[in-house]
Order: sequence, then structure tokens, then C-alpha cells
Amino acid sequence: MLIRKSGSTSIPSSEITPRSVYMDRRSFMAAGAAGVAALAAGRFAQVLRPESVHADTKLTTVSSPFSTQGLTPTSFYDITHYNNFYEFGTDKDDPARYAGSLRTRPWSISVEGLVKAKKKFDIDTLMKLQPLEDRVYRFRCVEAWSMVIPWIGYSLSEFIKQCDPLPSAKYVQFLSLDDPSQEPALNRVQLDWPYSEGLRMDEAMHPLTLLTFGLYGQVLPNQDGAPVRVVVPWKYGFKSAKSIVKVRFVQKQPSTTWNEMAPNEYGFYSNVNPNVDHPRWSQKVERVIGAPIWKQRQPTLMFNGYADQVASMYTGMDLRKYY
Ligand code: MTE
Repeated sequence: MLIRKSGSTSIPSSEITPRSVYMDRRSFMAAGAAGVAALAAGRFAQVLRPESVHADTKLTTVSSPFSTQGLTPTSFYDITHYNNFYEFGTDKDDPARYAGSLRTRPWSISVEGLVKAKKKFDIDTLMKLQPLEDRVYRFRCVEAWSMVIPWIGYSLSEFIKQCDPLPSAKYVQFLSLDDPSQEPALNRVQLDWPYSEGLRMDEAMHPLTLLTFGLYGQVLPNQDGAPVRVVVPWKYGFKSAKSIVKVRFVQKQPSTTWNEMAPNEYGFYSNVNPNVDHPRWSQKVERVIGAPIWKQRQPTLMFNGYADQVASMYTGMDLRKYY
């Protein structure tokens, strides 16, 4: 994603070393060779025994009619070590390194805005609201890489029904945890916190939109947005807000983090679309993380391969204007 430095031009985070990362690296180096060796050993152990990360957090699931068939999931290691979670730093391995400080219990989601009555849902109640489904989805990041992720959750629509939104609610906004005592990069990374995302009501009610509690048979690892996030498989990954603490129903299109930061680069809709390039790179092709080298470059599919299910929501809309 892009970090805009005041008074200068926009620079993609993939092409620069932000000060935050530089500082993280300095402290990392200061830990010395022994620390590095220990870290390397720890990581090696994780590759060998990924299940040891959350040994006792298996979830009981049912299969889902909404799971995408015929896909080979990306490895657990890649899904948990190649992340974007800027509350913990801007490098892809920062979340795996630093998200251990996130406390996922007690946790609740407060519901406010255009609802019959404000409500608060405890995470453990929320996880029992519906049977948890296994849903394999394609996941496409705006930075032109992709994965296949075996998520666990249920349709967000089931949760929204419990929220009793008023008919005047046209959009729903998701707000992530914003606590510097748990999320060390909040004070260093220049974004308008808390991380905010939003969907039009029909998008939020679409059965493919997943309220997500786990992946690979277990609760979400912290770096993937524990204990609860949204996943919208036909949109670029940044629409899928992590570690959600607040859901707000509103009448007008809500302000969202990346759209506020660079509106010409990250639209509110952000449907995966190989025909509309990012201003600085093509969206026609994606790099499949962890795939064998001869399968790493794949053409990007319209709506990330979910056009049959979702295209009708955008009939008549100019997708170049509403990117
Ligand atoms: N949610 C929060 N709270 N903070 C973030 O930095 N990054 C977004 C999205 N949700 C982000 C977030 C981006 S840019 C992407 S691509 C996906 O999370 C990455 O999800 P993953 O790390 O599980 O692959």
C-alpha cells in the first residue's frame, strides 16, 4: 500500500523503507546475533510445526455451499507470515513478529448508528450465533499478489440481521481496534487510525461476505485479524478490515482509511478489476504467493472470479468511475 509523506510525492510502501520500518530494523539489529539466531530457530520450528502456533484453538466447522471449489490453499506459513496489518508495522513479516501483543479476550463488537438500539456483542456469543463454515476463497491484494485462504466464519448478513439496522441505513462501516498499548506501530505509521472500511448495504448482506473467526481449522492467528474480521472475496484485500471492535450503520458513504489517504489510488468500491489499472501498476496479472515458479503469474479475474455471484450488484455503474 502507499504511505504518503508530507510535502513529498507518494511512494508505494513496497518501494521505500519508511522510517517506522527503519526504526524497527534498528531495534531488531540491536537485539544482536543471539536474538537473530533465536528468532531464526523459532521461525524454522514454525515452518515445521505450524499447528503449534495455536495448539488448542481448533474450531468445529461445517462445509459451506459458498466455498470456492477446485483451489489449492496457500500454505499456513505464507498466510500467517505475509500480511498487511499496519497497526503492527509496514513490512510483510511485521504482523507475525509483533502481533503477539494483541489481546483477543475479552473482546466485543459494539453496534451503533442507524439501528433500533445500540448493542454490544461478546466475541464468544458471536462465534456461536451460527454454525461456523469452512470457506475457501481467493484473496487478491491491491498490490497485485494473491493467495487462496481456507477461512472459517459465517455470512456477515446473519450478524447484520441481529443488529436491527433501520431502513435508512445505506452503508455499514467497520472500525478496527485502535490501542497503542497493544498495537505498537499505531504511533509510528502515518494513517488516520482507527483503520476504517465500509460496504454498501447490499454488498454487506451478500452471502459471500464473511464474518471471519478462523482459518485452516483454527481461530484466526493475531496477524490475520484476530479475533474477528470481515472478508469480501471479490474486492481488493484492504476492504477486509481486521480485529473489528465497532460496526456503524450510516446513511452516507463512510470515510475509509485508504480512500482518505489516496482517493485517486484506492476507491471506495475497490472491486477486483483487471480492466482498471492502479495509477502506478497493472491489475491484469497477479503473483500467486507460494505457487511453483511456473504458476506464479496468473491473470486476474473480473471480481476475482466471483462475477457470476456479484456482478449484478453493479449493473449500470461505470466501474472506471466507481473503482
Ligand atoms: N485491517 C486493519 N485493521 N489494518 C490493516 O493494516 N490491511 C488490509 C486488510 N485489513 C489492514 C486491515 C490490507 S491492505 C490487506 S491486503 C489485508 O488486510 C491483508 O490481510 P492478510 O494479512 O490476512 O492477508
